[in-house]
Amino acid sequence: MAKITAGVGSSHVPLLGVAVDQGKEKDDYFGPIFRGYDWTREWEKAEKPDVVVLVYNDHASYFDMNIVPTFAIGCGERFGICDEGWGPRPVPEVEGHPDLAWHIAQSLILDDFDMTIFNKLDVDHGLTVPLSMMFGQPEKWPCKVIPFAVNVVTYPVPSGNRCWAIGEAIKKAVESFPEDLNVQIWGTGGMSHQLQGPRAGLLNREWDNKFLDMLESDNDDVRHIPHIEYLRETGSEGIEMVMWLIMRGAMGKKVKTLHRHYHIPCSNTAIGHIVLEPAD
Ligand code: DHB
Ligand code: FE
Repeated sequence: MAKITAGVGSSHVPLLGVAVDQGKEKDDYFGPIFRGYDWTREWEKAEKPDVVVLVYNDHASYFDMNIVPTFAIGCGERFGICDEGWGPRPVPEVEGHPDLAWHIAQSLILDDFDMTIFNKLDVDHGLTVPLSMMFGQPEKWPCKVIPFAVNVVTYPVPSGNRCWAIGEAIKKAVESFPEDLNVQIWGTGGMSHQLQGPRAGLLNREWDNKFLDMLESDNDDVRHIPHIEYLRETGSEGIEMVMWLIMRGAMGKKVKTLHRHYHIPCSNTAIGHIVLEPAD
């Protein structure tokens, strides 16, 4: 049977993609950020996941205001790379896993989660930057990826509670897929950041670290943090962190922390990264 063996949380700052593409990972500014991912890059080489369910958000790159799916899953064979204004990033195309993706879609829909299904989808920095942080610059990504898109760009966005619950349903779906597959789930985005308006540049080290502590905890208090708290404490874009709760919900009750990293600043953003293993 397929199994979710680990959960990864990571920021997805587009500037980190630029740093990788331009070979600046070791310079004075980016060095301390990338060193926090060294452990994970080595660990991923040993873990060799077959598939990553990659929870991310599109930033009005492929999606637009014509259609705003709350939760969407990519069921295609492959996914192209978005042009976000400077041409597509020079990274490999993303290969999907249609059989597992359709199985997850069916299981979620029968569990009362109304999914949007994408057969054609291009992915932006929300998905490609975490791949670069975890895998570097391979000619081909080392695993298949199921894009799982969440609307965190325009209100109303889903609650943390709903995100946790859909994470639990993803775990059930994956673990009822008959093929032996090593599956990871990644939650991406965040941490505290606000890109516009009078509070642009807002960062909140204390709150971000409290959030990471709560993810590590055996209780599920973190799922009940209201939107207004993300907005007040972490800025307008901090709401991206609800996507980490999908990953955490898919881990089960208890987790073991394998790795944790936090750094301020990167662009306008606090960088957070965590690697968790189910420990029930
Ligand atoms: C930045 C961070 C993001 O999460 C994003 O999607 C775009 C920009 C930034 O800090 O520059
Ligand atoms: Fe973002």
